[in-house]
Amino acid sequence: MTDNTLVGYITEVNGAEFLVELLTEKDGVNSVISFGDRQVHVGQVGSYMLVKQAGPDILVLVESMWVQANAGSSRRMLRVNPLGSFNEDGGFHRGIPHYPVTGAELHLVADAQLKAVFANFEAANFSIGSLSSFPDINVYMDPSAFFGRHAAILGQSGSGKSWMVASIMQSTLKSMPNAHIIMLDPHNEYSQGDSSGKPVFPLDNVHHISAADMEVPYWLLPFRDLVDLLIDTNEEHASLQIAFLRSTVMELKTKANKDIDIGHIHIDTPVYFSMAELFEHFKLVNERTSNFGKASTPLTGKFDSLLIKLESRMNDTRYDFLLAPKKRTSSLSLPDLLRDFVGMGENRAAITVIDLSSVPFDVQPTVSAQIARMAFEFNFWNPRCREFPLLLVCEEAHNYISSSEDSRYNAARLSFERIAKTGRKYGVGLCLISQRPHDLSETVLSQCSSFFCMRITNPVDQDYIQSLVPEAAKGLLSSLSSLSQGEVIAIGEASPLPVRMQVNLPQPPPNAQTIDFYKMWAATDLEEVDVDTIVQHWWQNRH
Ligand SMILES: Nc1ncnc2c1ncn2[C@@H]1O[C@H](COP(=O)(O)OP(=O)(O)OP(=O)(O)O)[C@@H](O)[C@H]1O
Ligand SMILES: [Mg+2]
Repeated sequence: MTDNTLVGYITEVNGAEFLVELLTEKDGVNSVISFGDRQVHVGQVGSYMLVKQAGPDILVLVESMWVQANAGSSRRMLRVNPLGSFNEDGGFHRGIPHYPVTGAELHLVADAQLKAVFANFEAANFSIGSLSSFPDINVYMDPSAFFGRHAAILGQSGSGKSWMVASIMQSTLKSMPNAHIIMLDPHNEYSQGDSSGKPVFPLDNVHHISAADMEVPYWLLPFRDLVDLLIDTNEEHASLQIAFLRSTVMELKTKANKDIDIGHIHIDTPVYFSMAELFEHFKLVNERTSNFGKASTPLTGKFDSLLIKLESRMNDTRYDFLLAPKKRTSSLSLPDLLRDFVGMGENRAAITVIDLSSVPFDVQPTVSAQIARMAFEFNFWNPRCREFPLLLVCEEAHNYISSSEDSRYNAARLSFERIAKTGRKYGVGLCLISQRPHDLSETVLSQCSSFFCMRITNPVDQDYIQSLVPEAAKGLLSSLSSLSQGEVIAIGEASPLPVRMQVNLPQPPPNAQTIDFYKMWAATDLEEVDVDTIVQHWWQNRH
């Protein structure tokens, strides 16, 4: 065991990295030395070390290691990234007040010193896992940065994202009982619990609601989204249809709300109007003729396509939650909708899980756009928004916050981009979860200040993630493809240091268990699958 922690000297200093020449066996430093109660591989990629010179010690992360042959001798070299510095009383800060100069010493870092850094935020008791290399060191995150400045959890399918989300939310409920979280759950993974039926979140803390039951009525849509829903903008008469839609909606909104004290109604005011009347209005104008039926008017027949589209949507029961709401049929139902939505309704809850699997796949972007919009508007108009911060957790975010040019995604992209850009000021945070970071809106992703990267083997996605995160984490990210299930590299403001860690197991886990083909196919005592039930579910559009 050594007390001597010196292992090398700095030979070159850049803004974002230092080069180090390691000492050799000749200087009494082996490649593997025992230090504290463990064996240390000196200069291992992804390990932490200390740079010492007059002034504060600098904590660095090893990015790469190589041997440089030089006139018969060979030198072991390291490239390290500075992470922050320790002050005299041992406190750790990001940022480096003074850069070292060549000749500065590189030292091993003691466990106790590392432990202190990871315990920086211990008081908030928001621990999401432990160091992969030292399982007994707990990693505490800064919850204010995590929730308030947007976070992204990225990794390929099966890497453990949903389990991590469940684990984080469970830990949040324990240490922050007054949380306000809205979760978009496209695969209904968070309401069913584990195989024994134990719910993922304690039942008195969660409100499960299916998007279809919640009803996100058409009259909440801003005019722009209503146009996307009803009008094909490539159509010949699109501009005429848009103009007529605008004046009709205005007229119907004013008429339906004349007895309610709303003040000035504008086209985007979220107040009730009748869809049936809108349809009749268009039908009438489309069919109207002049001169006792002998001549057509300039509007005759111009709305054929709109009417067909609208009628087919209105007859499709899967769209009822949007176009034929049963509960939300008056402007006065809006407060209740918002209460349900943020967990202040009959079922008071810290987490509202909205099951999106109950609505057709092609309208999921429209629904999530409205959910994001409601979250933002809620706090935008909330005079006490600073006391009521909200978090929107977006599972499978690439399905609706898409970078695709397709106009179907426009509304959702704009809604989420608004939160990404200005949500921080009104206390609306985002947590994005995706297996396809490439397909996510770049604007939204680039506003995230914390990244949690799980296993990714695809080189294109790896490069994309490298380009998103700060320089200092490059050393750790090179190991993205070697992470195991539930292992994550945490980078950014919420994490005291870029760190490779094992996420705490959720208890119980979400209903996202990987199906065991072998076990099922090898079993001999399974019950026969009931095909009639499958057909019934398919017909009735339910699970
Ligand atoms: N922390 C963990 N420790 C051990 N095993 C884990 C851990 N997290 C996840 N797993 C295993 O990995 C499987 C997949 O996890 P999960 O459903 O969270 O993946 P995912 O990244 O959300 O995938 P997808 O993108 O397809 O939704 C789980 O069923 C579980 O068996
Ligand atoms: Mg998942």
